[in-house]
Amino acid sequence: MEAHRHATPPADGPSLGSLPVEPLLTSEFDSDPGAVYERLRRTYGPVAPVGLMGVPVWLVLGYTEVTEVLRNEGQWRRDIRYWRARAEGRLPRDWPLLAGYEVRQMMFMDEEEHRAARRTHHSALSPFQEARSPEGWELRAAVARYADELVAMLAAESGSVGFADLGAQYTRPLLLMVTTKLFGCPVELGDELVMDLWRMLDGGPDSGAATGRALAAFTRLAAHRRARPGDDLTSYMMLADPDLTDEQLGRELFMNAVYLNDITGNMVLNTLLEVLRGNATVRRSLSAGQLGETVNRAALANPPVANMCFRFAARDVQLGKVWVRAGDAVSPSAAAAHRDLLAISSSHLVGSTVSTRAHLGWGAGPHQCPSAARELGGMIVSTAVGRVLDHFARAELTLPPDQLPWRSGPVVRGLRVLPVRYELARGAGAARRAEPSTSDAGGSDSQARGLLAALRKLMFGGKKV
Ligand code: HEM
Repeated sequence: MEAHRHATPPADGPSLGSLPVEPLLTSEFDSDPGAVYERLRRTYGPVAPVGLMGVPVWLVLGYTEVTEVLRNEGQWRRDIRYWRARAEGRLPRDWPLLAGYEVRQMMFMDEEEHRAARRTHHSALSPFQEARSPEGWELRAAVARYADELVAMLAAESGSVGFADLGAQYTRPLLLMVTTKLFGCPVELGDELVMDLWRMLDGGPDSGAATGRALAAFTRLAAHRRARPGDDLTSYMMLADPDLTDEQLGRELFMNAVYLNDITGNMVLNTLLEVLRGNATVRRSLSAGQLGETVNRAALANPPVANMCFRFAARDVQLGKVWVRAGDAVSPSAAAAHRDLLAISSSHLVGSTVSTRAHLGWGAGPHQCPSAARELGGMIVSTAVGRVLDHFARAELTLPPDQLPWRSGPVVRGLRVLPVRYELARGAGAARRAEPSTSDAGGSDSQARGLLAALRKLMFGGKKV
């Protein structure tokens, strides 16, 4: 869709601040966001005003309008300095989402500054994406090994038949171990930053303090690796851009850690849920060895980045049926836009695979998930889900799918728990012992193992994480 860039809004047209807005984050949104998107769409069309913890923003619901906002960077800016309400001091000082938006990192940059930051990320991530490079090979092997170790731990603690939460006992610890390995974290730092990322991502009154602590932890990690470089993402970011200060690098690592832990973890859980619900299409894809198709289907049904971070209008513009004024914040909703795709895919005229690939789970346009990160995220999701399929002879949900508890934040939607009754395949509990790594002896792999021991204490020692 071409935005009406240079048109003038009608003088008496309502502005965002003057419209009554309904709060988005309600218990209905938590349990059934689809119903909320439908109602907003019926009332306002493809772009609706909503309140996010007391601050009005435009929620973009239509597929055409969402892709316009994601792709047209001349009109839709990421730099938070374009936000009129912030510039005019109209945001509440303690607004819980402000701390995250104030972290100046690649996601909130525009044009050349943004392109330069993406080149740095791409060059630092590429070795890990390549299956044939030593770093890529080692990371792939490590992800599979960690998954095996977590299943072995489950077998040792709960037996080969029992109950498990595939969130707390498998997916989340797996992603923490991968982060520790990829970033080259000393174990104490890993523990510390993990706790604070979870606190920050869950929002709430201490999100500002948790963000500050996590940023400080990543800045210390940057300083640590500057003194002792290794074969890890932190060190490769420094090589790719030697001018990055420890603070700047700390901010970039912080954002990557959010994607690697929360977003990738939720993609693993959402895909496992698709598998466990096991409708006929999923079973067909899996038996044809098409795990990728099941991942696409999960991204379409439940994209982990449900509502993307704000864009700010550079000029007054008509979008859908409303006029968005220069400096207004808009949140493009992949989850709402996917309802358009799902409607197309249920039409007998269009093949379902065509529409599952058109999902916006990776974003679109200049800020979409970088290709090396997508490869990496895809590899982690397929390995994590694939190991469950290999190790579990049987797994079934212990709750009906519509009663599973979800965490629906302003950006992320993910399962709080994925409870299953399981039976392990014969021999599945006997995890292979990790072979010593040639390039990392005593390094981040053993740190990941230290983290595993710490998690084991937390998970089974009666403490709550
Ligand atoms: C399955 C897992 C993943 C999913 C579903 C995912 C999804 C996304 C989405 C939707 C965006 C765009 C957000 C927006 O436009 O507001 C994004 C951006 C980004 N992702 Fe991913 N991501 C995943 C894994 C990863 C991993 C593993 C990393 C890094 C280790 C990563 C790093 C990034 C970065 C750095 C950006 C910001 C790009 C920019 O602003 O230019 N992602 N991702």
